[in-house]
Amino acid sequence: MLNQQHVSGPANESILEFGTGASIDGTFRSVGAFDEQGLVAMPHTLNFIEAATLTCAGITAWNALFGLTGNRLMPGQWVLTQGTGGVSIFALQFAKATGARVIATTSSPDKVELLKGLGADYVINYRQTPNWGSVAKGLTGGSGIDIVVDVAGATTLKQSADSVKVEGLICVVGIVGGDGEAGEIPTLLDAWKSSYTVRGILVGSRMQMEEMCRAIDGNPTLRPFVDPHTFKLDQLKEAYEYLSSGNNQGKVGIDIL
Ligand SMILES: NC(=O)c1ccc[n+]([C@@H]2O[C@H](COP(=O)([O-])OP(=O)(O)OC[C@H]3O[C@@H](n4cnc5c(N)ncnc54)[C@H](OP(=O)(O)O)[C@@H]3O)[C@@H](O)[C@H]2O)c1
Repeated sequence: MLNQQHVSGPANESILEFGTGASIDGTFRSVGAFDEQGLVAMPHTLNFIEAATLTCAGITAWNALFGLTGNRLMPGQWVLTQGTGGVSIFALQFAKATGARVIATTSSPDKVELLKGLGADYVINYRQTPNWGSVAKGLTGGSGIDIVVDVAGATTLKQSADSVKVEGLICVVGIVGGDGEAGEIPTLLDAWKSSYTVRGILVGSRMQMEEMCRAIDGNPTLRPFVDPHTFKLDQLKEAYEYLSSGNNQGKVGIDIL
């Protein structure tokens, strides 16, 4: 697990001190000793590199869709995902496996088929369609999105708010879109005016991770989207360069054995 002490329920301040690769040593090593409470058995259906993608991107997407009691994703509901990064692809896959409908955005015409191949019902190019929030709402028949998984942050939250339904949920996951324009980000009062919930996501707990692994075990076609090009532990620099080039298709794996 990414956070070694987050076993169940909400996180707290002291738990934040136990993030692997942040407050404590990470896993770019072939040998390590871990607290048994911080480990989860991987799904039988996956190989090691596929399973490694679950500990951050996978569990974050799972938490966004299923982590809020009383507002867990249901079949037939609408989910909006943004771009083709790790969290968004997992959110798309989990949503489709649940029987939900997904509107995905991307900046790249080349990635439209990839998203459709993973089950997206609609794909919108967010560069060509800057008002994609209201366009997405229209695609739902006007009612709006049940759960928006917002990974881009300042540049997307206004559109996310335009897309979400009354009493819907916007999960604020990240800031991959960079800085937005001043005044562009909805305020807390907007959440009141339009009656939606905004939820900040912090990875996920071990209980949620176990729940997600069971779901993957029960659905052998559900496999993390991993780039065929993997790297060895002594090629970390090349792996990061490959990742930052944006030429990767899915998660980039490091073989630590
Ligand atoms: N809260 C948490 O616990 C948690 C956990 C994991 C990650 N995060 C954060 O979540 C964010 C996403 O992480 P990730 O690993 O999924 O990212 P990633 O794999 O680096 O995502 C890259 C993709 O983001 C898309 N993107 C960039 N700008 C965008 C925009 N303005 N609108 C829509 N999509 C945009 C692009 O998709 P296209 O090429 O298709 O346009 C790009 O390929 C990061 O900020 C990360 O730090 C948070």
